[in-house]
This record gives sequence, C-alpha cells and structure tokens, in this order.
Amino acid sequence: MLSNPDDLARWHEDGYFVLPGFNAAAQLEAVRARAHAIVSGFEPDDSISRFSTRDRALVADTALLASADKVRCFFEEEALDAAGRLQVPKERSINKIGHALHALDPVFRDFSRGPGLARVAEAVGLKQPQVWQSQVIFKQPHIGGEVGWHQDASFFVTDPQTVTTFWFALEDATLDNGCLWVEPGGHRGARGVLREQFVCEDGHLRMRPLDPTPWPDTAHARALPVKAGTLVVFDGLLPHYSGPNRSPVSRMAYTLHVTDGRAAYSPMNWLQRTSAQTVCGLD
Ligand code: FE2
Repeated sequence: MLSNPDDLARWHEDGYFVLPGFNAAAQLEAVRARAHAIVSGFEPDDSISRFSTRDRALVADTALLASADKVRCFFEEEALDAAGRLQVPKERSINKIGHALHALDPVFRDFSRGPGLARVAEAVGLKQPQVWQSQVIFKQPHIGGEVGWHQDASFFVTDPQTVTTFWFALEDATLDNGCLWVEPGGHRGARGVLREQFVCEDGHLRMRPLDPTPWPDTAHARALPVKAGTLVVFDGLLPHYSGPNRSPVSRMAYTLHVTDGRAAYSPMNWLQRTSAQTVCGLD
C-alpha cells in the first residue's frame, strides 16, 4: 500500500494511486446510511425558488461560503426546474453534502481518520496533513451531473502546492454511472501547471484564469472504474473529470481535501476556517 518503491514511483509518475479494498463493507454501509439520514433530515428552504436564475448564483455563493463549517446539502442542478421547484423526490435531488462532515459528524469523523489514512498521507509526502474539506458526492441516478476537467488545487491553493485528494468509492464507480477520469502524469512537467484559481472576492466566487495550458483531450484521459471500498489518492494538480450519470445506479463517493500544514494556505481560497476544530489531522 504505497509502501514499496514501485508503488511510490508510480504515484510520482502518474499523479494518482488506486488502493482497492481500503474500506470494509461495514464502514461503507455506516457512512452511506449516515449520508442518507442527513438528507432525510434536510429541510430544503424555499429560498432557491424565490430567486431568479441570476440571483440564484449569488444565493449559491452565499450558501457555499456558509457551508465551510457546516454539514449542508446541495441540490443537483437538474433536480430543479426553471422556477426552482423540485423535479424529483428529495432523496434523489441532492448533489452533495459538504463541507465539514469530517469534523462535525461522528460517523464521518471516524471514517476520515485512522492509522491507514495517516500512513497513506505520509507516503505521499504530507508531513502535517490538514483536512480542509469533506464532501459526499451522490452522482444520482439519471440526473447526476457531469463535472468537467479541473484541478482540485484550484480550490485549495497552498505555497508550495500540497493539496491531495482522497477519493473514497462508497459504491461501485463504473463507466456508466460516472466514474473518475484522469490525465495520467498531467500533474507534472509542462502540463502540471495550475490553470485557474477559485477565489472569493467581496463575497463573490469566481474562477480566475492563471495559465492558458489547455485541458487534455479525452484521448489522453484514463477511466478509473473502481469497486466500492477503493481509495483513489491524487495530486491536487492532476486534471480529472467525471461524466454524467444517466444510468439507474447511483455512484456515491466521499472526498477529503488534505494540505500540508507546513505550506502557506492562500487567503484567497473560498474555504477559510473560522474555528480551529474543523481543520483536522488524519490520526
Ligand atoms: Fe475534483
């Protein structure tokens, strides 16, 4: 498990690593059940439906910023009609839960730490791992949205770059239900530049272009279909995307974004912690 030289060489070469069987079935069952319970308890307020499409962007910014230290549900775009009314049952409408599950929810807190995770973090060079964000991503059947090419470092700029993504398959991820696709090696050399930064300015969020290096074409993308229980670790500079889910099967995943506490965390990043308790280690 990333402990022999060949594995580490592959990590450096490819910018990602796949660890099948990292989580046991009982652990997966516990966090899936907890995620569904959070959604069941979620009371969608009607604020979304009261705003025009243009204003909705501002509402979305405000909701995102307010979720940094909370456990909050976000709708799938296609779950709402033009007037903001739910088109599917609530249980099928949620795109994700974020962004402080790892700190505030006991079930996810347990899942988000432990010697196994700490060992992986150490192996990939995170000497002082700090978890900034946690998300459950549902990728709902039929309406699960596509997430286009991006680099997670855009959302967690540190100097030097350290953010590393821990992507846990809570269900099987397949070509049909929207598994990850990556550009192997796209995190290093001339292609390993940060193309854009997601910044917060005066309460408004926007993607600021940094470098014109184009995104890979799909011919250079590698699909990562994985079984439930697999942990995929990838470098924050690695370009990746996931397709829409038009299948009848959901593709739940859980992610942690982890930086090294020795690196400087950008004050422009959208997620700023107001309370020390929500920036956690892994053990
Ligand atoms: Fe991502």
